[in-house]
Amino acid sequence: MSAAATVSLLAPAKINLFLHVTGRRPDGYHLLESLVAFADIGDTLTVTAAAEDCFGLEISGPFAGPLRADPPETNLVLRAAKSLADILGCRCGAHIHLDKHLPVASGIGGGSTDAAATLRALCQLWQADPEPAALAVLAEQLGADVPVCLAARPAFMAGIGEQVHPLPALPSLPLLLVNPGVPVSTPAVFKARQGTFTPATGPAEVEALFSGAAGTSPAAFAEALGQFENDLGAPARQIEPLIDQALASIAAQPACLLARMSGSGATCFGLFESDTAAEAAARTIGAGQPGWWVRPGHLG
Ligand code: C5P
Repeated sequence: MSAAATVSLLAPAKINLFLHVTGRRPDGYHLLESLVAFADIGDTLTVTAAAEDCFGLEISGPFAGPLRADPPETNLVLRAAKSLADILGCRCGAHIHLDKHLPVASGIGGGSTDAAATLRALCQLWQADPEPAALAVLAEQLGADVPVCLAARPAFMAGIGEQVHPLPALPSLPLLLVNPGVPVSTPAVFKARQGTFTPATGPAEVEALFSGAAGTSPAAFAEALGQFENDLGAPARQIEPLIDQALASIAAQPACLLARMSGSGATCFGLFESDTAAEAAARTIGAGQPGWWVRPGHLG
């Protein structure tokens, strides 16, 4: 295989616009239904060709610290790279630079989106075209959110995350991401969830509801989302009450159309009428809570 010199990609934040827990498998994993979209805010992943079988990882950026503390062999990015070389049956190597701008353990798929971007970037670098079924199995083995992050486009996600139904484009919505500066453990949130499961709807209803979404206004889109929820919101808020504060501060901003938690938290998102409103909200919340991570951007 001949190699390109360097490939650099955005590993975008994954936003669960809604997330329903519909059941639980015998192995303890939860069955989910979620409408997932991606923001123009994320980590940057750069891969460079290296000698055969050689893999190196460098981590920089404001959230590099917690990842640098982990042993390299447990890092999802390195595991993704080595597993891809294995399924390709090649002796390729790569130097990987992860510039970490998304908070870790924060419900916006940080590790999963980095792993998915690694797979995409290395396929380009190595000019490889892995068998789709093998790539799907690899993505699922890396983590429940990796398959949807590999698609990196709006999708209805089901099963434990392995079923990804791509959707047509969503409108480019003004977005605000707010993390109150606390990591939240995904297994702990699933464990704290109580009560009945939300009945599954299946992809058809969600596809029908959002298939013409690209032409709708932010307000109409947010209203359609209003009939869904994030079922992990209650257990996550119980574990980390600052999530309530983050949600309330987003909802209190002018022209906010919807405020909701993503994934298992603690990052919350707001959808806004306009870029100006999202940017003004970011300034207000950031000034009041200097320790919080607050980013305006776009979804879709
Ligand atoms: O697969 P991932 O590493 O993202 O999941 C972390 C943990 O979250 C799992 O070990 C499991 O406890 C919980 N989880 C779950 N159901 C899912 C996804 C994650 O119970 N669909």
